[in-house]
Amino acid sequence: EDAERGGYEHFMLKEIHEIPKVIEDTLFEYLSEDIEMDASFSAGISEIVFIACGTSYHASLVGKYLIEKLTGIPVRVEFASEFIYHQPPMHRALTIAITQSGETADTLEAMRIAKKLGAKTLAIVNVLGSTATRVADHVLYTRAGPEISVAATKSFIAQLIVLYLIALKLSRLPGSEVNRLIDELRAMPELVRKVLEREGEIEQIAVLISGYENMMYIGRGIGVPIAMEGALKMKEISYIHAEAYPAGELKHGSFALLGEKTPVIASLVPDETYEIMLNNIKEVKARESVVVAVADEDDQEVEKYVDFVIRVPKTEHIFSAITHSVVLQLLAYHTARKRGCEIDKPRNLAKSVTVE
Ligand code: G6P
Repeated sequence: EDAERGGYEHFMLKEIHEIPKVIEDTLFEYLSEDIEMDASFSAGISEIVFIACGTSYHASLVGKYLIEKLTGIPVRVEFASEFIYHQPPMHRALTIAITQSGETADTLEAMRIAKKLGAKTLAIVNVLGSTATRVADHVLYTRAGPEISVAATKSFIAQLIVLYLIALKLSRLPGSEVNRLIDELRAMPELVRKVLEREGEIEQIAVLISGYENMMYIGRGIGVPIAMEGALKMKEISYIHAEAYPAGELKHGSFALLGEKTPVIASLVPDETYEIMLNNIKEVKARESVVVAVADEDDQEVEKYVDFVIRVPKTEHIFSAITHSVVLQLLAYHTARKRGCEIDKPRNLAKSVTVE
């Protein structure tokens, strides 16, 4: 097993460091010279319904944001385990099931039900030949390679890459704008390498975080699913109770939890939510929580209001989901390591949940 970890202490860390390569491989699958993404799955649909569990559910929330923003197609996101019993109306819907393993029982059952309800199904899957690939009408593979660590990292980023490509493929933006965004996407491996270079800094902040038992992750817009996935990573491997909230919603209840015992991780995305997010951060600081912001490298403003800033390379705002998520994966990893946790095989969890 030591050899398979390639010199890394844990599979999770190795898999995070594989992310630049995984982005390259997934882009190559759909953007190399003679291959284009086959989008026949989208013909005649009036809405998209995502079904997924866990980290794949958070990828779906990013997918909803991207598809609604870039294409105007309405999107719903359902937990597979809820969809099975809820069976919502699926009029001319395309169901997109996202699953790393392709074996999650709830997701498979939800796909079968979606088909019975008359929807077309597309599966975004990492494991070749898995059950989901046989149930779905169409399949798009992520090229993350085998993921050993229970906590999903590189497979999540690969799912996001496929979602960017779907959203751009179906987008109603002018061709020149789509090409510009695809060029930015091609630059992501390099930008993630820059994030990985800051691992030492992130580790220092993890030392501080490791002393707490409760945390709050906040964001707005695409920052909300980023925060949710960041909090899930932290819970899964460090056993710190971490909640994620849309920053504007804190005042309706969760403010009561803030204070010096609850640090807050704030994802600041450079879009129309930036200014209001800064206001939310000021409100949080007034409740005496330590605030760690994840923000663009050229952001001069945020450092005036927070305790620590983890910088990410500047990108088009939609791609912040990639850079920020890698930061939050490393933060969870180093926090768990500092706390002496199991990391690759956390208590009570399984890589793939094959029972309903
Ligand atoms: C398990 C894993 C999670 C994963 C979820 C969904 O709970 O521990 O990391 O996100 O299943 O898995 P899937 O293979 O369907 O993406």
